[in-house]
Amino acid sequence: MNVYDSVQMAKVLKLNNYELVDSFSVADLIIVNTCAIREKAVQKLYSFLGRLSPLKKKKPHLKVVVAGCVAQQQGAKLIDRFSQVDIVLGTHAINLLPDLPQRIEKNPQPIIEIEMSEKILETAPSAIAITRKKEVNGFVTIMRGCDNYCTYCVVPYVRGRETSRKPESIIGEIQMLVQSGIKEITLLGQNVNSYGVKEKMTSFPELLSMVNDIEGLERIRFVTSHPKDLSDQLVASFGSLSKVCNHIHLPVQSGSNHILKKMNRKYTRETYLERVDKLRAVSAGIGITTDFIVGFPGETDDDFDETIRLIEAVQYDSVFAFEYSDRPEAPAARFSDKIDSDVKHQRLQRLFKLQKEITRKKHQSLIGHTFSVLIEGASKNQLKNKSTSATIELSGRTSENRIVNFNAAADWRIDIDSIKGQTVVVKINKAFSNSLFGVLLNDQLENLITEGDHSYVA
Ligand code: 5AD
Ligand code: SF4
Repeated sequence: MNVYDSVQMAKVLKLNNYELVDSFSVADLIIVNTCAIREKAVQKLYSFLGRLSPLKKKKPHLKVVVAGCVAQQQGAKLIDRFSQVDIVLGTHAINLLPDLPQRIEKNPQPIIEIEMSEKILETAPSAIAITRKKEVNGFVTIMRGCDNYCTYCVVPYVRGRETSRKPESIIGEIQMLVQSGIKEITLLGQNVNSYGVKEKMTSFPELLSMVNDIEGLERIRFVTSHPKDLSDQLVASFGSLSKVCNHIHLPVQSGSNHILKKMNRKYTRETYLERVDKLRAVSAGIGITTDFIVGFPGETDDDFDETIRLIEAVQYDSVFAFEYSDRPEAPAARFSDKIDSDVKHQRLQRLFKLQKEITRKKHQSLIGHTFSVLIEGASKNQLKNKSTSATIELSGRTSENRIVNFNAAADWRIDIDSIKGQTVVVKINKAFSNSLFGVLLNDQLENLITEGDHSYVA
């Protein structure tokens, strides 16, 4: 969501004659878009602001903006603590951004814009490209805020009430993105499954069906689904809508009913497992990923064992897991029985070790299988080595969201931009912990090459 918001900021600024530059030293305006979800993210902001201080002293006309969730959360406190900050821009204030630097020129006072409005922020869909790089994947926010109040979470306090955008506006924005070459769209919301419910308008499965009809769009993903709201109708969409990718991110947070209750998640491990079964009944090979918090206040060894057993039962494709950290606004910050940081650390390591083994086995079992891969560009390996040798390693994703790298080109030099966004069939022959490696089938290679202008620009 922050990436999407940053793009919106770049777009509103571009419309007001700002240009994106490559280095801090030549910038007149620096925006730090922030995340408050865990303490670590907030610490990162503080150290980054510290590093900006000498630059600000050297260039007094430089304006520094702190935007996003930490801006919303801390408001004037940021200005008091960091004199290098000129503007604090809350989560509902992106559209105000272009006028603020001039306002500060006229009246050299720090500006704090953190009013939260119930009205959805409707940035006009616009086709402005902010960089010249060809993009394959695009994000579109379909709703903002959250009304779920999980007890560990800061989001309802910094993003405000849940509000869904109108379907016409979402469709218009996606059509623009598709016209600019985007092939895959990720629909964003804190809880996409409750899209439109409060407003009594189009439901999320209905929205998916409308997006599925957009010509030229090839793949649809969405994050995040709250397990409590995963309806049968949505589960059925994985089978009935051809562009919806075969992957779901379904954050479970814990495998213990006692902890789920304390977290206010409103489902049990049993209902969660039932929903996983339903998803697999519609699509046996569906990729399932999740989030865990370890060391939530009061989590006993037995509670954590329940989490381990849930991982064994579900066999996730991959997991994100975090040590619990207090967020001052969230109720859990005031819960007793806080878990020792060493214990949290050990639990996290145990969880990762188990998942690593599950992913390794899963990846191993995919050797010999073929997948459609949407090419996203040169692989990380290729970019690191910057090799201009006879072969080039390309990278893309399967519908299940697995990264697949493969070699292309013989002695040609190819234009990466011309092959980004193409879908090819790859047969897997090697498995790694975070990716798969394979070979292109048949003579797809020939097609890739002849469509490029043969200049290598990775
Ligand atoms: N401490 C640790 N992890 C958290 N998350 C959210 N709040 C906290 C917190 N206070 C994690 C959850 C969520 C992900 C985005 O961040 O797992 O799904
Ligand atoms: Fe936070 Fe819970 Fe809302 Fe997700 S559903 S954003 S974890 S309050």
